[in-house]
Amino acid sequence: MARSITLIPGDGIGPEITAATVRILESAGLNIEWETVTAGMTALEKFKDPLPKDVIDSIERTRVALKGPLTTPVGKGFRSVNVALRKEFELFCNQRPAKTFTGIKTLYFDHIDLIIFRENLEEFYSGIEHYIDSSHTAAETIGIITKRGSERIIRYAFEYARKHNRKKLTVVHKANILKFTGGLFLEVARQMSPEYPEIIFEDKIVDNMAMQMVMNPYQFDCIVTTNLFGDILSDLASGLVGGLGMAPGANIGDNVAIFEAVHGSAPDIAGKNIANPSAQVLAGVMMLEYIGEKDAANKIEKAVAAVIAEGKYVTRDINSVNYVGTREFADAVIEKIIH
Ligand code: NAI
Repeated sequence: MARSITLIPGDGIGPEITAATVRILESAGLNIEWETVTAGMTALEKFKDPLPKDVIDSIERTRVALKGPLTTPVGKGFRSVNVALRKEFELFCNQRPAKTFTGIKTLYFDHIDLIIFRENLEEFYSGIEHYIDSSHTAAETIGIITKRGSERIIRYAFEYARKHNRKKLTVVHKANILKFTGGLFLEVARQMSPEYPEIIFEDKIVDNMAMQMVMNPYQFDCIVTTNLFGDILSDLASGLVGGLGMAPGANIGDNVAIFEAVHGSAPDIAGKNIANPSAQVLAGVMMLEYIGEKDAANKIEKAVAAVIAEGKYVTRDINSVNYVGTREFADAVIEKIIH
């Protein structure tokens, strides 16, 4: 029986890179029935609502979504649909792998393979923010960390490490200064670690962590941290492996998971068959792993890696002299998958 999955093509380059992803996933012989729904700017223009109810209904039904990037207006207009989806489905974990691919230029390193698990709902992203005086000379933001919120993200990271034979989990915090919030997060991790004796456990203060990741990223494996530090460190990790071009991400909750590329809707290159669909395809790979299609996931990831390593059919962001379009890149990946 076909597995139903919600597909949100997204804004800007979204439709092009999700179309390429769907073709690639289907070429691996998967029996997927896509429920295509519209969100973001495209939905606002069509239905006057950036997050129509049928999007929520579809994800509630299928419990798994592949999402293209969505445009969020800066400063004014509607609030981020990405954040709204995380809240709606309590997607507490943002999982961001950072892996090097032969053929992608990096500043210093090869063979990096890190995963960052970022708490996705609490702390400074809860939106509790205001000026504390009428002349707006001081503002306050309230970041709440709960034991329950800390437990579920740290548990998820430990369980993932166990299931995938990862060796080490580093909890990142600032408990020396943020003694209550950071302290609580660290304490939860320390108390849980004896349940996972096979996984090396350590903690690092975030400023030292940033330096250590740049000086010697090989000492890390899985990393779990709070929302703001996770946001910053996951982009740092992407920088180590050559930028956002190959960076997929997953937003995971107890019942629902949404997979996406980390980059945005790139309006500057939309509709031109220029965009690199790799990050979106790798998000599809994470999705296949999540639904238990490990063989297909491996096959697709290997095919993407092989096309990029060969360098003959790559997009403009990878090689600005000899390049092909989004569709032609997808064709080359499909060719590897079926032969
Ligand atoms: P962006 O990631 O869309 O673009 C930054 C630069 O990278 C641009 O020069 C773009 O052409 C290039 N780029 C991005 N993806 C590419 C790809 N696949 N292939 C080749 N080049 C690529 O970031 P920007 O411009 O800050 O944001 C544009 C919009 O995307 C905003 O409305 C923002 O809110 C939204 N956004 C959405 C995200 C999501 O849905 N998860 C994540 C990040 C931003």
